[in-house]
Amino acid sequence: MVEESLETTVRLNNGVEMPRLGLGVWKTNNTNAKESVSSAIQQGYRLIDTAKQYGNETGVGEGIREGLEKTGLDRKDLFITTKVFNGDQGYQSTLDKFEGSLKRLQLDYVDLLLIHWPVDGKYLDTWKAMEKLYHDGKVRAIGVSNFDVERLQNLLDHAEVKPVINQMEFNPLQQEKEILNFAQEQGIQLEAWSPLGGGAALNNPTIQKIADAHNKSTAQVIIRWDWQRGIVTIPKSAHPERIAQNSDIFDFSLSDDEVQAINDLDENKASIWYQDFGWYEPNGGVDTGSVDKWDDSPADYDK
Ligand code: A2P
Repeated sequence: MVEESLETTVRLNNGVEMPRLGLGVWKTNNTNAKESVSSAIQQGYRLIDTAKQYGNETGVGEGIREGLEKTGLDRKDLFITTKVFNGDQGYQSTLDKFEGSLKRLQLDYVDLLLIHWPVDGKYLDTWKAMEKLYHDGKVRAIGVSNFDVERLQNLLDHAEVKPVINQMEFNPLQQEKEILNFAQEQGIQLEAWSPLGGGAALNNPTIQKIADAHNKSTAQVIIRWDWQRGIVTIPKSAHPERIAQNSDIFDFSLSDDEVQAINDLDENKASIWYQDFGWYEPNGGVDTGSVDKWDDSPADYDK
């Protein structure tokens, strides 16, 4: 049997290998992002997922630098994802503003660039710009986030380069079956944001029972469930001991019945809700602490 670890990858539809479990940093400010990312790299994490919207690319960049220094790893050992901010969408502005992300991250390429949300009327132009960045070698893979089936089909109808990923809010209570099935039919990998349900799924009694049976935490059971379902996942924690715990999922496995019991928890909630979000604000206005204020002010954002 091939040993599973944080370095285990999935091959994306363009041939690039992506680690299957990584660290998410939404709602993390720059100071904490630096610490979380550096600690995660030192603990063996290879996949780090950020976004301009999170207001913490600067901290993530510092964390990457420190993590590489402390481990002696090379940049190419890591897989770094960032996302096109809604206010930057459109062809030229995507190209121009991407440079700011690279600068803040202290990188000369990212491994994966996603459209953060499907801004209607703009996302096809944004995609064209991302295809150019891909052809120019500034990104190794391009994909989307928060695309429902209709928008993903529209993108596929116009795209020259097929998206490799659709990153969705996905957790035991919100399984996005229709989107997952469509992505799988198209050879597009599903990636879960907020895999722990922003915390809510962590207290579910069914998951707690399974966790007790394995002497694991509910977070570990959920992450293991993602793993066995073939979903790339990026749990967020600002605490090194939880970052460690969330990667300690390779010494047990869920039975088919246990996977099914978690599958049955789906509440069929939809998650395309971006019109309600404070998209001009770093972190959607959630975190007013140490965040990037962006030297490039956001372009007008069409609600
Ligand atoms: P914290 O950052 O304080 O550790 P999601 O990735 O689904 O959005 O969930 C993130 C939330 O779950 C955060 O509030 C995070 O808090 C918390 N969290 C992350 N890992 C664990 C864990 N192993 N046990 C309990 N809570 C966790």
